[in-house]
Amino acid sequence: MEQARNWLRAASSVVALTGAGISAESGIPTFRGPSGLWKNFKPEELATLQAFAKDPRLVWEWYDWRRSLIAKAEPNAGHRALTQLERDKPAFTLITQNVDGLHERAGGRKVLKLHGDIWRFQCSECGRNWPDRRAPLPKLPPHCGCGAIARPGVVWFGEPLGEVWAEAEHAVRECQVLLVAGTSAVVYPAASLVPIAKSAGARVIEINPEETPLSAHVDVSLRGPAGQILPQLIGERSAP
Ligand code: APR
Repeated sequence: MEQARNWLRAASSVVALTGAGISAESGIPTFRGPSGLWKNFKPEELATLQAFAKDPRLVWEWYDWRRSLIAKAEPNAGHRALTQLERDKPAFTLITQNVDGLHERAGGRKVLKLHGDIWRFQCSECGRNWPDRRAPLPKLPPHCGCGAIARPGVVWFGEPLGEVWAEAEHAVRECQVLLVAGTSAVVYPAASLVPIAKSAGARVIEINPEETPLSAHVDVSLRGPAGQILPQLIGERSAP
């Protein structure tokens, strides 16, 4: 912990990469943990373009359920600690795989959302993209003004990440410290940001209660929940 704190304090350019684990302490289930979403639901039936084409109502029932869960949740100390880091560091970027919007609700401003946003809709025909925070939704599936069915503004398995990827890659190539919190690091290309940062000379600090495929390749792997570890690591002020 001491070593990690010193690296972080000395760094002026920091990136944080987060996954579902950082929202676990806010009561939002992860995907692959013991009570993870993919234990009870099939990703191929709910999080692919094919699944949506086959049964948009089923897919929307699941996203509507997740939106209602997230709407009741509050950002936790882990989210807030990263917002503190954004305030303290001259160069800070938060890259998240999460679609829940809790980093922004914790005051995060520079948030790159690799997998989209559950609070935005996308028209499956005209491509329009707009915010919608109603939970639960009055009618499923929701429609666009052009009459076509709308889809959740998230990135599904097999879909490209879009322009945000180039920004994320650039940020990790430039950073001195990369914090990796709450991800199982099995989903690509997000997980590839870690070796990219490492090969560009960054110190990589992992925060996870469990070992991941990354643990053997990072500089420090801190075992514990992000809501406890991140405040300890970042402290009140971590300006260099
Ligand atoms: N603090 C930190 N990490 C935690 C905590 C916690 N309180 N609780 C659980 N974790 C860890 C787990 O040990 C696990 O390694 O968080 C990780 C969550 O992993 P996943 O459920 O696989 O979530 P994530 O890595 O974000 O998944 C990546 O997969 O399903 C898709 O699009 C979805 O963005 C998601 C992507």
